[in-house]
Amino acid sequence: MFAILSDIHGNRPALEAVLAEVKELGIRRVLVLGDVVGYGPFPEDCLRLVAGAEVCLQGNHEAGVIGELDDEWFNDVAWAGIEWTRNRLSPDEIEAISRWPKSAAVDGIELAHGSLDPDDRFDYLDTPSSVDGHFSAQSRSLCFVGHTHVPAIWIEGREGQVLWPKDGAYRLIRGLTTVVNVGSVGFCRCEDPRPSWVTYDPLNGEVTLRRTDYDVDTTVQAIRRSGHEKLVVKRLLKDLGR
Ligand SMILES: [Fe+2]
Repeated sequence: MFAILSDIHGNRPALEAVLAEVKELGIRRVLVLGDVVGYGPFPEDCLRLVAGAEVCLQGNHEAGVIGELDDEWFNDVAWAGIEWTRNRLSPDEIEAISRWPKSAAVDGIELAHGSLDPDDRFDYLDTPSSVDGHFSAQSRSLCFVGHTHVPAIWIEGREGQVLWPKDGAYRLIRGLTTVVNVGSVGFCRCEDPRPSWVTYDPLNGEVTLRRTDYDVDTTVQAIRRSGHEKLVVKRLLKDLGR
């Protein structure tokens, strides 16, 4: 059984709550799909907490922090968050992030932050054409991504997203190439602002979307005290439903 998390974005209370649930479920294999830092007020703590993960990918915010992507790539809010984060991290932490892979495969499952498309690996899989670009590079039947902050399931050759079942448990269809977006632990941008993440049981081919309650007030107070620019604070509180 795997727990697959993405887009934590420095929200330590959310990550702690999710990891507590992972432990309660007895899951040892944790895969992190990137954007551990950027935006949120606890980047160092989040780096420490993901250190035990089996895989941790580099997201676009990490690429910004280590200087691989520049301000032209990001909107003003994201870039302000990246600069703030870079100033908080030690040279050792930045060095560690620069060694994270950009994609990976674990037990035949492919993993990417945004997309497997080699020409656009931080593309957002939220349109049929972006999903087509991704599928042209997906060689295994199952891939997990994050980056959009919205959980989603796409099947190759099928127009539009597949709806998540109400109980969150989606049974993969054998023979169909599927990409699952796990949403965001730190700042989920959908009607339900709680952290989203998934568990994957390879034995029965089931991917379960999970939502975890946590102490949002601690994160809200830390954002207010962070010294972030006003536009960043406003955006983050909106994503938290405040
Ligand atoms: Fe991202």
